[in-house]
Amino acid sequence: MNKLHVLSVASEVYPWVKTGGLGDVVGALPAALAAEGIATRTLVPGYPAVIDAMRHATTAHSYAELQGGPARVIAGRAGGLELFALDAPHLFARPGNPYLGPDGRDWPDNALRFAALGAVAADIGRGAVHGFTPQVVHAHDWQAGLAPAFLHYGGGQRPATVMTVHNLAFQGQFPRELLATIGLPPGAFAVDGVEYYGTIGYLKAGLALADRITTVSPTYAAEIRSVANGMGLDGLLRERHEALSGILNGIDTGVWDPATDRNLASPYDAKHLKARAANKAALQARLGLAPDPDALLFGVVSRLTWQKGMDLLLAALPALDAQGAQFALLGTGDAALETGFANAALERSGRAAVVIGYDETIAHMMQGGADAILVPSRFEPCGLTQLCALRYGALPVVARAGGLADTVVDANEMALSSRAGTGIVFAPDSADALAIAVERTAMLWRDRTAWRALQRRAMATDVSWSRAAARYAALYRALTAKRTA
Ligand code: ADP
Ligand code: GLC
Repeated sequence: MNKLHVLSVASEVYPWVKTGGLGDVVGALPAALAAEGIATRTLVPGYPAVIDAMRHATTAHSYAELQGGPARVIAGRAGGLELFALDAPHLFARPGNPYLGPDGRDWPDNALRFAALGAVAADIGRGAVHGFTPQVVHAHDWQAGLAPAFLHYGGGQRPATVMTVHNLAFQGQFPRELLATIGLPPGAFAVDGVEYYGTIGYLKAGLALADRITTVSPTYAAEIRSVANGMGLDGLLRERHEALSGILNGIDTGVWDPATDRNLASPYDAKHLKARAANKAALQARLGLAPDPDALLFGVVSRLTWQKGMDLLLAALPALDAQGAQFALLGTGDAALETGFANAALERSGRAAVVIGYDETIAHMMQGGADAILVPSRFEPCGLTQLCALRYGALPVVARAGGLADTVVDANEMALSSRAGTGIVFAPDSADALAIAVERTAMLWRDRTAWRALQRRAMATDVSWSRAAARYAALYRALTAKRTA
């Protein structure tokens, strides 16, 4: 098959810039796509960590002026990826969170920063970089949402475009007065263009103008077509339902492999689950939990936000106490939730531990040492922590929403009798339903032989990128075949 060239555009890429799963996906998908004959180059903003990783890069394109200063596109390889970085110091030479300033608020020039990213993606799409003209430009989330718009309004020959929604809650809305500054023609401010409730909507633009729309699980693709879950964009998504599909994420099974994980005291696989006990002991020791192998240990690795149902979890903690379970949480986010969990840990000395912060080592230790991983999200486009949990044999206890519903098979009576089930799935999204899910998990825990069988099945789930890569490849090929036909 012919090689197909894709430009992937995003504002995060693991391991250099990551605030959540978006970075993981953008970092891992290209390697999986390569096996399908798709050559991907990834364009990201030149944040300090990215520029640092690309010390041997070459200049691929220059701008005398781009949104208020000189800029260039640099090209190079890093961490196995073919990267383009938009080196524009006046926009991106800012350490820390990619979207927020030191005061914790959005950078005031975010509209310009990500307009620049979209415009440069469109330029590369049209051949600005010598020797690389992609057949597909694939934009991820609102930060890249203007790429399809610039390509659409630029006229003439253009590559095919795909817009992927990782989270509909983040939409990138800016004042209409910026239209000319951003570089879009007056006609773009229209219902079938970038206009969104009187503002400019970056995600809306991508959803309206890309040739195809994908999101990161089939269930989320269905959910976002409803008023209840569409966050204002459901009308457009219903209208474009033929262009919309859900492709389930995978995880990087090299980064997440319990058999080789250097963060674990005792690496293991499905055939050697006894070796897992040492990881539970190490986690308990590291977090100051009582060294009790028999206490059912629930872990959480999450942003602490409303989306993730963390307030429900806080309310359901007495259900864990009632089961004599232990609780370990790693996360950052809303101040009220951080305080709530910190206090809950103080009240449960030796039985609950809360680490407020971002820490990859502890994230791996949680997956390798906790007995179960809780993901009680109110909505979840895909979710990656439950995929890691499956791979590590930490049984996922998840809400029946979005990608959580698509990836975890509830271990109910019928599932168990037909040797299926890989975790616990609960609904509705309430503290009571979560408490009952905790009780169900504890019931399963009492029968260690059955628990082991569940762990083995969880670990046998294919959470790699291979199926998703085949689907994206098919999508790209269908799109480009149509254009050349
Ligand atoms: P989202 O992108 O909505 O936050 P995902 O489940 O898709 O949720 O991805 C979250 C990713 O971020 C996972 O790789 C998870 O391990 C990681 N993560 C989240 N919080 C932390 C944290 N406090 N420390 C380390 N890793 C974290
Ligand atoms: C978003 C979603 C999460 C998804 C991730 C990667 O951050 O909240 O559910 O797994 O993107 O697609």
